[in-house]
Amino acid sequence: MTDILLRTASLRFGYPQRNGLFRKSSLREVIKGVDIVVPRGSVLGLVGESGSGKTTLGRLLVRLLKPTAGGIQFDGVEIGGLDDAAMRPLRARIQMIFQDPQSSLNPRLRLGTTLTRPLGAYGRLKGRRDQRERAAALLHLVGLPAEFAYRYPNELSGGQRQRAGIARALALEPDFIVADEIVSGLDVSTQAHILLLLRELRARLGLTMVFISHDLSLVRVLCDDVAILNQGEVVEYGPVARVFSAPQHAYTRQLLAAIPLPDVEPGWLDDSPPLATSQQQGSAA
Ligand SMILES: Nc1ncnc2c1ncn2[C@@H]1O[C@H](COP(=O)(O)OP(=O)(O)O)[C@@H](O)[C@H]1O
Ligand SMILES: [Mg+2]
Repeated sequence: MTDILLRTASLRFGYPQRNGLFRKSSLREVIKGVDIVVPRGSVLGLVGESGSGKTTLGRLLVRLLKPTAGGIQFDGVEIGGLDDAAMRPLRARIQMIFQDPQSSLNPRLRLGTTLTRPLGAYGRLKGRRDQRERAAALLHLVGLPAEFAYRYPNELSGGQRQRAGIARALALEPDFIVADEIVSGLDVSTQAHILLLLRELRARLGLTMVFISHDLSLVRVLCDDVAILNQGEVVEYGPVARVFSAPQHAYTRQLLAAIPLPDVEPGWLDDSPPLATSQQQGSAA
């Protein structure tokens, strides 16, 4: 056991691209030597403009992509070079939640089926009754009523769908989660409830998270540390309080100036209703 759950070392990644002239593919590098350290139980915010490489880095961390160079250590194990078979036992512990829950929620399946599918795939279901109970427990965990197991994704609001996406990611009881822009596109009040839920889950389940967002105000209320990504490089990295009060890099200052932080105080979430209320709203919204 180490107090660092995840770390990267000079992590690099390039997408293959075709060179029209010679028809030979080369790599277009979009992650250019990233070093991050995520202590167990902490939340790291990953911020940058569109195209800066946030999603690519997130996919690398959960090993949906394979690094072209450098390393990724998860719980003391170097996973950067592992093949699918070697990754499989670790997959259950590492989950990614996407902005668009559509990609993780099959529109043709009832929620209960989708939520318990990963459990089935890992042989962790003991029959129908167990499946029902597990679905209900997962829904409860994210503040949705048990009856939602019988609903289809299109019968949910945006916020409810995102809760369901979170529940699915939690099914296998992972210890590390990468959340990629999961509240973008939701209204501010729904965003607050989802952030509150994440914070609650983090405390209750001891989750370690990388929270990807282009919105610094969200990072401020949820994250311990923040890494600012610019064109595939981390240009600023440190505790949230330090980065917000004394940004070192011109790019960070530019981001801070560009993103209005009007009435969003660090204590913003603390003024939000407790989870019980958010559960009701979650089911009513
Ligand atoms: N599948 C892909 N194939 C080729 N290039 C990609 C692919 N996905 C992303 N890119 C490129 O990689 C860069 C980083 O993209 P991305 O990681 O999606 O950034 P962000 O999430 O910060 O918007 C962009 O220039 C984007 O065009
Ligand atoms: Mg992205």
